[in-house]
Amino acid sequence: MVAAAPSGKKPLPDMMTSIRIDKSGQVEIVDQLLLPHSVVWMPVSTPQEAFDAIKSMRIRGAPAIASLAALSLRSYLSSSSGPSFSSSSEAIKWIHETADYLQSSRPTAVNLGEAMDRIRLVLKQAEGEGKSVDEIVEKIKTVCGDVHEEDLERNMEMGRLGAEWLWKKRGGNGKKGIKVVTVCNTGSLATSGYGTAIGVITALFEADQLDTAYYAQTTPYHQGSRLTSLELTTLQIPACMICDTMLGSLFQHEDIDGVIVGADRVVKNGDTANKIGTYQAAVLAQRHNIPFMVAAPVTTIDLSLATGKEIHIEHRPSVEATQVRGLNIETGKLSVVRITPEGVGEGDKPWQRVYNPSFDVTPAELISCVVTEKGVAERKEGEKNIDVASIC
Ligand code: MRU
Repeated sequence: MVAAAPSGKKPLPDMMTSIRIDKSGQVEIVDQLLLPHSVVWMPVSTPQEAFDAIKSMRIRGAPAIASLAALSLRSYLSSSSGPSFSSSSEAIKWIHETADYLQSSRPTAVNLGEAMDRIRLVLKQAEGEGKSVDEIVEKIKTVCGDVHEEDLERNMEMGRLGAEWLWKKRGGNGKKGIKVVTVCNTGSLATSGYGTAIGVITALFEADQLDTAYYAQTTPYHQGSRLTSLELTTLQIPACMICDTMLGSLFQHEDIDGVIVGADRVVKNGDTANKIGTYQAAVLAQRHNIPFMVAAPVTTIDLSLATGKEIHIEHRPSVEATQVRGLNIETGKLSVVRITPEGVGEGDKPWQRVYNPSFDVTPAELISCVVTEKGVAERKEGEKNIDVASIC
């Protein structure tokens, strides 16, 4: 028998967000390269500044980068120092080029491309209807705002659906709370709020159904140890950090009820690109018969690609793997240290190479279900694919 979900929600402290907009409309992001040691808000006023912030990973996470790209365009179009257009065709050309430029900042996460496609669609319609410059600019500004605002609400719905699915699957048998594992950072810093996988974990916690959220450090960028740790400690959710190499041991020694991850792109057959390390977590979860859930908004689903083989995987600079950024506990200052011998990742000798893909692809046959704000698509017993189109 499945235990009933307790009613009532735990009150949560305010969470840190990745993006804020002040009364004057100024967009700011928290510099994620400095977290968790230092909270520095930096203004982003132009698409060029948004491109640089995304490329350098001062902001990251599939939904958050889509939001920032859209908001930077809105803000620049509203600004007195922004572009002025003498004709509709000039406005359409400029916005098209800017959308292409913003989209090129990071290739794997589809949310950014999806947001830019929404802008392109508005341009296409405006062109067909012969709209004026002012009308075009106003419509683009509206769609840019929507990209950001729609994210929070859908994350809460996704969190609720994902928590319900996992609780039904594993919460019975008199269990007070369940134990889950996550990788990377998928909370309010990676989205417009509440999060994807962390949203499911938060919903479990709010319903008093969570025992512990284990989270992997997620090297080399340390999204887990730097960012997920900050989110979970701020929310006061019972959590335990593990090194990426400890997943197998954890599955052997703890009764883990589910692995919950976010996604950067889920394609038609359910194959999922997410942070490097996700695939190995899925392989190990299958070996231990642990449900493996992907939580992602509809904007992360890419029905234009048939299988994960077609997903373009971004490789990051080798310095992100050879150097570690952190707080020097002797000086109290932030510093960057190299952890490899000199030249590794920088020299051209055959023994100085570094392999640093930012994402991997988990085949659908290792995934138990994909959750969006529209529903849960389960992989049926004996099948290799997941019908993600049914939850778009
Ligand atoms: O390289 P990052 O930090 O942008 O990668 C982020 C992830 O892989 C997340 O799991 C993904 O964007 C989904 S979460 C909102």
